[in-house]
Amino acid sequence: MKAIVYYNCGSPDVLKCEEIEKPVPNDNEVLIKVCAASANPLDWRLMRGGPYIVRKLFGIGKPKIKRPGVDVAGEVETVGSNVTQFKPGDSVFGLCKGAFAEYVCAPESALVLKPDNVTFEQAASVPVAAFTALQGLRDKGHIQPRQKVLINGAAGGVGTFAVQIAKSFSADVTGVCSTKNLNMVRSIGADRAIDYTHEDFTRGTQRYDLILDCVGNHSFSAYRRVLNPSGICVIIGGKELWSVLIRVLTAPVLSRLVSQKFIFFIAKLSKEDLTTMSELMARGKVTPVIDRRYTLSEVPKAIRYLEEGHARGKVVINLESAN
Ligand SMILES: NC(=O)c1ccc[n+]([C@@H]2O[C@H](COP(=O)([O-])OP(=O)(O)OC[C@H]3O[C@@H](n4cnc5c(N)ncnc54)[C@H](OP(=O)(O)O)[C@@H]3O)[C@@H](O)[C@H]2O)c1
Repeated sequence: MKAIVYYNCGSPDVLKCEEIEKPVPNDNEVLIKVCAASANPLDWRLMRGGPYIVRKLFGIGKPKIKRPGVDVAGEVETVGSNVTQFKPGDSVFGLCKGAFAEYVCAPESALVLKPDNVTFEQAASVPVAAFTALQGLRDKGHIQPRQKVLINGAAGGVGTFAVQIAKSFSADVTGVCSTKNLNMVRSIGADRAIDYTHEDFTRGTQRYDLILDCVGNHSFSAYRRVLNPSGICVIIGGKELWSVLIRVLTAPVLSRLVSQKFIFFIAKLSKEDLTTMSELMARGKVTPVIDRRYTLSEVPKAIRYLEEGHARGKVVINLESAN
């Protein structure tokens, strides 16, 4: 089968589409014929490897994961002997290793059935980005109806899910994005959209109960100005690894000193949350926003585009035409 592999960290040029052996599921796994996969910043971060000191700190030498891609949707081809929830022919989506391939194996615990009203591309857009948005808003941000919630980076993979998920909790949602994405961010439910090229929301008069920061481009003191006294700022990322590391270290310290909370977190695989997302999509509360579609051999192009940092929703790899 064809799969994207890489042997050394570097630019998207290290990604090669090669012929490798079709995987065989173990007892707890399902073999999936991949219909679609989606790309996440995680894919380019692992591919790049990061600065030398960060590679050392996190034990990243030669890439351990040589098969990028974790978000997958497809059809079950065979199941392991202990698998009880799926059978050949089922349409599923979830998390796996090496999703940019014609076939993958994934544990039963990392998959759910795809709702009929959702395409494979939409389903493949969900796992990492939606987990992050859902767990960030609900578990870390304790989102409540009518709260004022701001999503910084509302037009991206995580942000487009966060806007819709926050609306499903009946929050009052403000999305921050560039001029070209204002209408899209409003169209997915944001009550207002702020154009960061014209307005710095941290200098405005509006106060927020919850900020989900997908960009990491403002200081904690700037966020404090626009957070209510008991407000929560959930930080999920930032472009530069150094600035992310500094935030990881300073957030808990600051949270002890001031009334507002600053929380950095990493999303976790949760079958329950996959089910929640499946239900939200089946009920039409969340519709994944897909920006661009690429074929398997175009994965280097897809990753290069995502790495530019201006994707409009999710970047999807479509294998349906190849199957
Ligand atoms: N902690 C976790 O578990 C976790 C999980 C997933 C992702 N992440 C991290 O979270 C971050 C976002 O992930 P993602 O998948 O959403 O990335 P993405 O899809 O690449 O996000 C791109 C978006 O960022 C927006 N953006 C860029 N500069 C901006 C600015 N100054 N103000 C507001 N928006 C801006 C862009 O909008 P415009 O084009 O309008 O500028 C674009 O829509 C990444 O750093 C990623 O590594 C963390």
